[in-house]
Amino acid sequence: MFVGKKITISVIKADIGGWPGHSRVHPKLMEKAREILGKAKEEGKLIDFHVAHAGDDLQLIMTHTKGTDSPEIHGLAWETFKAATEVAKELGLYGAGQDLLKDAFSGNVRGLGPGVAEMEITLRKSEPVVTFHMDKTEPGAFNLPIFRMFADPFNTAGLVIDPHMHMGFRFEVWDILKHKRVVLNSPEELYDLLALIGAKGRYVIKRVYPKEGHKISKDEPVAVVSTEKLYEIAGEYVGKDDPVAIVRAQSGLPALGEVLEPFAFPHLVSGWMRGSHNGPLLPVPMNYANPTRFDGPPRVVALGWQISPKGELIGPVDLFDDPAFDYTRQKALEITDYIRRHGPFEPHRLPLEDMEYTTLPGVLKKLEDRFEKIE
Ligand code: F6R
Ligand code: MG
Ligand code: MG
Repeated sequence: MFVGKKITISVIKADIGGWPGHSRVHPKLMEKAREILGKAKEEGKLIDFHVAHAGDDLQLIMTHTKGTDSPEIHGLAWETFKAATEVAKELGLYGAGQDLLKDAFSGNVRGLGPGVAEMEITLRKSEPVVTFHMDKTEPGAFNLPIFRMFADPFNTAGLVIDPHMHMGFRFEVWDILKHKRVVLNSPEELYDLLALIGAKGRYVIKRVYPKEGHKISKDEPVAVVSTEKLYEIAGEYVGKDDPVAIVRAQSGLPALGEVLEPFAFPHLVSGWMRGSHNGPLLPVPMNYANPTRFDGPPRVVALGWQISPKGELIGPVDLFDDPAFDYTRQKALEITDYIRRHGPFEPHRLPLEDMEYTTLPGVLKKLEDRFEKIE
């Protein structure tokens, strides 16, 4: 029984082959992952696990007692991705093994390609958790929704009317270019926070913590986002760093509905088609988590869980499988149609410095001699 004791939730994901193109994960890859994690559960390495997919990303959701950054758990995820890659190769899936950027595993999957969101928590008597899984976008896509859950009173009524939330939360923000971090207090430093996280390609929310005096210890995260940047790791475009997040809910934290509410607005995110386009974020149920149009539009799945006293993952509940999000989807599709008509023009296409790849240097070189001075 883990109530009042430490338990770790790990979500580790990788694109190790698409079916077809960059659309979705083949069921045989998921089968292979279930087989390996199932064995690990029998051996007592894991308490529980669930295998899912979001677009072309294979998602491993696990509970265990080894803490975050555990070589054993990361090694298990690595072994799982390697084995599933073999299946992807047999099937000739597209980009088989693409996110496994290095051959050797050295204790931690960070920096090797997969994305990781993990939190070690003291299990509450009842622990509602949501895991979010996005495809065709980047970690900064979580900035707006996580901000709204934990800092925006127009989203989260609890910030105003729940005495346990009224003091606000603390945000750990990473500068992913300079590899630095800063912790900002909300609401006191709300404008400073927004000044950073509005630049979502550079400053990303990594974790949210309660403040001193909350029922949950101020050192225990209540939300965490994967922030691995594939481009930075590999030094070249190798696919999108499609992010994942874990958010705890209820009882002094945003209610489940306050956690989901930000996704009723299909905000514009970067990473669509060739990692080089902006588009609206489409909240979808699992059976629609398969990008199609223009390799998108970018989408997000929300899986709801209760962690049982034994640490089991009771779920998933496919939270966006609800007509309450139909209007958002309709809106997102209108925006899709509108923004697509820009073709190769900004702001549909990303500004030059943010594109994953470009032909511009080649074009400039070719035209070098034909550029004339303007008097
Ligand atoms: C992959 C992605 C896709 C690809 C596109 C081109 O995550 O976003 O839009 O970038 O399908 O892929 P390649 O260059 O592999 O043909
Ligand atoms: Mg892919
Ligand atoms: Mg993907």
